[in-house]
Amino acid sequence: MADNAEIKVDGKSFELPLVKGSENEIGIDISKLRGQSGVITLDPGFKNTGSTSSGITYLDGENGILRYRGYSIEELAEKSNFLEVSYLLVNGELPNKQQYENFESSIKKHTLIHEDVRKILEGFPSNAHPMGVLSSLVCSMTAFYPESLDPNRSWDAVNLSIARIMAKLPTMAAWAYKNEQGHPVNYPDNSLSYTENFLKMMFAVPAEDFEVDPVVADALDKLLILHADHEQNCSASTVRIVGSSHASLYASISAGINALWGPLHGGANQAVIEMLEDIKSDGGDVDKYIKKAKDKNDPFRLMGFGHRVYKNFDPRAKIIKKAADDVLERLGIQDPILEIAKGLEEVALNDEYFVEKKLYPNVDFYSGIIYRALGIPTKMFTVMFAIGRLPGWIAQWKEMRENKEPIGRPRQIYTGHTQRSYVDMSKR
Ligand code: SDX
Repeated sequence: MADNAEIKVDGKSFELPLVKGSENEIGIDISKLRGQSGVITLDPGFKNTGSTSSGITYLDGENGILRYRGYSIEELAEKSNFLEVSYLLVNGELPNKQQYENFESSIKKHTLIHEDVRKILEGFPSNAHPMGVLSSLVCSMTAFYPESLDPNRSWDAVNLSIARIMAKLPTMAAWAYKNEQGHPVNYPDNSLSYTENFLKMMFAVPAEDFEVDPVVADALDKLLILHADHEQNCSASTVRIVGSSHASLYASISAGINALWGPLHGGANQAVIEMLEDIKSDGGDVDKYIKKAKDKNDPFRLMGFGHRVYKNFDPRAKIIKKAADDVLERLGIQDPILEIAKGLEEVALNDEYFVEKKLYPNVDFYSGIIYRALGIPTKMFTVMFAIGRLPGWIAQWKEMRENKEPIGRPRQIYTGHTQRSYVDMSKR
């Protein structure tokens, strides 16, 4: 491979170094471009632009490959658990027995949240979307743990902040749900696993015994693994750029939650179910919705389809689709929505519009069907995504800080008015 790329601007040639990743991806390092040539690059949505070099997650969109720290998502989903995968993402290696136990106990120590958080929670109307509640409660952690505000304090202090948010996010999420239900909140039960504890805080009600169904806990743990990281997606990039100003971990994660909320990103899992419900109540006419998705004049998009990176298939969607069949069968649930989803997928995958634009089901297309089967309400689907993505956000933020990356501040091409003189409009 040549060492440099050459670009010509107004007849002048400039050489820019090429960089190669461990999977032989090649990038042009343009960090000195403007200084050399006076020109910048322009790439709305960063579709062709790398923001960083990262050793956390590898995606191969053409071949449907997803690996966390070199381990395939298929193996991790089958053989690991969410807490072990969280340790792997944040620390770079799988934990040995002692490291795992220490990590788990460091989290169990912090699952409670300050009672004053309930005053913030009670300030939200019951119809508040849980993602807005969650990002607010996470940001409130900067008030309860002011020592977290300085990310340069020490790595011990950062690791304490990491343990606290890993521990408290499920509690905050479950409390947001209970607030919406008008039910009393449940306190954490540290005798349970990370996922079991969340399910109990979500669904236990006073005066009724509650036992976590192992099928439900296992399915949820697998879903959390599948959502744990995805390199420089919108919300991870948000966490990195907010953190690059040396804002705290909690402020950065709160921003990431808000970025994930959008229906083009993590909010798609909620939008998919709402779309499938619409199709069902519209008589199940999938062809009508395929037509709408193809109509340039119709803003409707087939939610859960398409991806910026995967142009073949999303490996997570394949695993989730199979898990959806398994979970519904094991729970004895017949969900007509699943059949509509499968019908929609079949029609879309054979339609030239979707084939030509390389639009395939993504992680959000089938996940909502499992969440429904697990009893999780639709408005909580993106909250589930946030709980799963938390270790990835933490890993991305930590790597950006460890690499001492500069504050993110993109350039622009100005297209507004050239200079003009002031006119006193009050006389007009
Ligand atoms: C996630 O980045 C990540 O890794 C994200 C994620 C993660 O784990 O973090 O994987 C999670 O966000 C998954 C995506 C969830 N979003 C959706 O399911 C919403 C529906 N999908 C789209 O809006 C879209 O496909 C995106 C946002 C996912 C990707 O958008 P891009 O890469 O910017 O592509 P684009 O919008 O430029 O679309 C390219 C073409 C366009 O047509 P043309 O203008 O070229 O004629 O494909 C069309 C689009 O109109 N298109 C769709 C479509 N998605 C793209 N047409 C109909 N239905 C769709 N779903």
